[in-house]
Amino acid sequence: MKTQTDRIIIFDTTLRDGEQCPGATLNVDEKLIIARQLARLGVDVIEAGFAYASLGDFEAVQKIAQTVGTEDGPMICSLARAIKADIKAAAEAIKPAAKGRIHTFISTSDIHLEYQLRKTRGEVLAIAEEMVAYAKSFIDDVEFSPMDAARSDPEFLYQVLERTIASGATTVNIPDTVGYMTPSEFGDLIRGIRENVPNIDKAVISVHGHNDLGLAVANFLEAVKNGARQLECTINGIGERAGNASLEELVMALHVRRQYYNPFLGRPAESEESLTNIDTRQIYKTSRLVSNLTGMLVQPNKAIVGANAFAHESGIHQDGVLKNKLTYEIMDAKLIGLTDNQIVLGKHSGRHAFGARLKELGFELSDTDLNKAFVKFKDVADKKKEISDWDLEAIVNDEIQQAPELFRVELVQVSCGSNACPTATVTLRTPEGEELTDAAIGTGPVDAVYKAINRVVNVPNQLIEFSVQSVTAGIDAIGEVTIRLKHEDRIFAGHSANTDIIVASAQAYVNALNRLYAALQTKGENSATAVGKGV
Ligand code: KIV
Ligand code: ZN
Repeated sequence: MKTQTDRIIIFDTTLRDGEQCPGATLNVDEKLIIARQLARLGVDVIEAGFAYASLGDFEAVQKIAQTVGTEDGPMICSLARAIKADIKAAAEAIKPAAKGRIHTFISTSDIHLEYQLRKTRGEVLAIAEEMVAYAKSFIDDVEFSPMDAARSDPEFLYQVLERTIASGATTVNIPDTVGYMTPSEFGDLIRGIRENVPNIDKAVISVHGHNDLGLAVANFLEAVKNGARQLECTINGIGERAGNASLEELVMALHVRRQYYNPFLGRPAESEESLTNIDTRQIYKTSRLVSNLTGMLVQPNKAIVGANAFAHESGIHQDGVLKNKLTYEIMDAKLIGLTDNQIVLGKHSGRHAFGARLKELGFELSDTDLNKAFVKFKDVADKKKEISDWDLEAIVNDEIQQAPELFRVELVQVSCGSNACPTATVTLRTPEGEELTDAAIGTGPVDAVYKAINRVVNVPNQLIEFSVQSVTAGIDAIGEVTIRLKHEDRIFAGHSANTDIIVASAQAYVNALNRLYAALQTKGENSATAVGKGV
C-alpha cells in the first residue's frame, strides 16, 4: 500500500498546540466557532485538542467531532501521550467524527529520555510500538510523533519509525519541538528518513515545528522538497513559546511559488492545480477570528495577514503599483480574502441588504445572530455615516463571537481632561440580573473605568495587555480594544469594537472577566462572598 500523497495535507493544530500559548485559552463554544471556520478554510485535519488533559478539552474535541467532523468535513484528531488512558480518552472523544485520528507521541531524544522520561531507548521503543498498536485497536488512522525528533539520534529515530509503522502508524510526524533546526538540516533529516526507514512508503511523512529561531516555515518548505506531505501548522503561527509554523505563510508560499514546488510533488512545473486544499480567500477572515478570540494580536508586518502586508508607503512603490500592481506585489490581496474595503452600507440600509453583504463576505449567521448583529449595525450606523466591509466584519465579530455573557455593561460614563481627575461610573448587570453601579478615580479614563468595574465584579486580576486599533481610517472609525488579564497563573483575553473607545475598553474588560468568571465557576471556586457581590 502506497500512502504518499501527491498534494500537501494541511493539519491544523491551532486548537491544540496553538491554544497552548499563554493566554490563548478558548472555551468550548469558541473552539467550535474556530473549528467551523477551519472547515470552511479547507484544512484536511483539525487537531481539536488533547482529550485527556481536562474535561473541557474532552468536551471540545467531542463537540467538534460531532458537528464539524462530517462525511465531507475535515478529519478530527486528538492528541494523546503514549499512555493507555490518554489514548482511550482520545478514541472516545473523536468517535462521533466521520473521519477520526489518534495522534500519539513519546520523546526520542537522549536529553528527553535521560532528564524527563528517565527511560532507556529500549523502553521507549517498546512503549511506542505497543501504544501505536493500542491506538490502532480503536481506529485505523493513527499518527505517531517521536517528540524532539530533530535532536534525536537519527539511527534510533529510523528504528522507532520503522517499528511504529509496522505497528500500524499511518502518518509519522517529525517534530522540531524546540525550533533548533535550519532548513537544510531539516530537509536532510526528512531525506534520511525516506532513505533509511524500510517501510516508510506505508506512511505519510508529516512535519511539526516551532519558531524559536524564526525558521519553522522555511524548514517545512525544505521538508516538502524532501518528501514531507503533511504540514502541522497554526493560524497566525500561534503556539508554544515563539509559536508554530504559520498556516497562511506555508499555504501562500506553496501557492505563489507553485511552479517552483510542483516538480517536487511529481507535477509539471507549469501545473496550475493547487498544492493544498485550502480556500485561500478564507485566510484573512480566519486570521482575524483567531486573533479576536484568543486575544493574540497579529503584528502589523506579519507576512500575509499583517495590517501592512499589502500596504505601500514609499512613493516609489506607490507609483509603481499605480502603473502596474506586479511592480511591487507578488500576490493579489483578494487572494487571501481581503476586500477593497468598499463603503457599502449606511443608516438607511435594511436588514436584507445587511444580511446579503455579510453573506458575500462569507459569514453564515443564524437568524438570531443576524438579528443581534443588525441591532449593533444600526447603532454604529447612527454614529458613523458610512459602513465599510471592515466595519461589518468588526460588528459581526464583536456581536456574535462573544464570551459567555455573565456580566453585562449597562452604562459607562467618564469625566476626564487636562486638570481633571479621571472619574468613571459604571453600571453592570450581574449574572443574577441585578444592576450594580459603582464609581472610581484612576490615572486616566480607562484606568478609572477598570477600577469601577473591579469594584462590582470583585475578582482579583492583573491587566497585562491593553491595545486599541482603529478598524478604518477617519475620526469616526470603529476602535477595537483587545486586552489580556491574569488571574493566578491563567490568562484571559477580551475583545470589543465600538466607535467609542472607552465603551469598547469597558466591554473588552468585562468580556475577559466573563471568561475568568466562567472558568472559576467550572472550578467551583466562586463562593458567593468572593465573586460578583460588589463591595
Ligand atoms: O512540539 C511537539 O513536539 C509537539 C508534539 C506533541 C507533536 O507538539
Ligand atoms: Zn508542538
